[in-house]
Amino acid sequence: MANPKIVVVGSSNTDMIIKLERIPRPGETLLGGEFAMAAGGKGANQAVAAARAGGDVVFVARVGDDMFGEQAVSGFVRDKICVDYIVRDKRAPSGVALIFVAKDGQNSIAVAGGANARLSPSDVRRATRAISEARALVLQLETPLPTVQAAVNIAARSGVPVILNPAPARPLPDRLLARVSILTPNETEAELLTGVAVTSESAAERAGAKLLARGVGTVILTMGAKGAFVINRELKAMVPGFKVKAVDTTAAGDVFNGALAVALGEGRPLLESVRFANAAAAISVTRLGAQPSAPKRGEIERVLRSR
Ligand code: RIB
Repeated sequence: MANPKIVVVGSSNTDMIIKLERIPRPGETLLGGEFAMAAGGKGANQAVAAARAGGDVVFVARVGDDMFGEQAVSGFVRDKICVDYIVRDKRAPSGVALIFVAKDGQNSIAVAGGANARLSPSDVRRATRAISEARALVLQLETPLPTVQAAVNIAARSGVPVILNPAPARPLPDRLLARVSILTPNETEAELLTGVAVTSESAAERAGAKLLARGVGTVILTMGAKGAFVINRELKAMVPGFKVKAVDTTAAGDVFNGALAVALGEGRPLLESVRFANAAAAISVTRLGAQPSAPKRGEIERVLRSR
């Protein structure tokens, strides 16, 4: 079977990471950290995760006409991602994220979006053909909402399933949600969208039901190490996560979405696809950095076979 074609529309950043005992408080200086620089950005992480999981990936994005943009694009090429729809922006720098990673793997992230904030509906329309031919369109919210809506509209016209990871959290209009096949919020994002504090499986079900009522096809609420709660009009189920020792949770959600798109694009059933995505995300949290942590297909399959 040919690798499923996945189009990802979204952000690309360079991550400046400091790993230290704990996240500094406002006004505090903490010594003793270790520095690393790695490719990141929610969209780019999803694209790389999908490519390594076995997708034939097209990435639609904007980077600056600078060294970081150059390095990001070279990385995509190494992962055999189609870069034909990546614009090199002469007026804005490439996106940068400053990330603190604490000893327990939790993080805190600040993003200077740069060129990501200029990804436009017309950039997306240039990729109309690629989107219309895809097995899935994957998006997040680090680029402007009109751009996200434009991509979703193209997919909807061709009946292409849309996977929207609503991160970073922001309110979303019903006209967008009604065209989303699969919405993948974490607990914080689900709370922002529904007002339900997701502290248990039953709360996840309540939040999920509210999102279905707004027109979403399926909600997959990711709950960290616990796994993912899946709900649509036919089923509701908790798909348990894989227990691992967390080193860095950065991009676990992005890896989950990239891998999910591939599994669904291959025609696997929904819950099996979520298990595949859980395995990919679990591997990613055992490694430092966003794109460096995205596993290859063989690694995901090994974890799936071992449990
Ligand atoms: O989801 C993790 C990503 O968020 C990081 O790679 C960072 O660039 C920010 O976009």
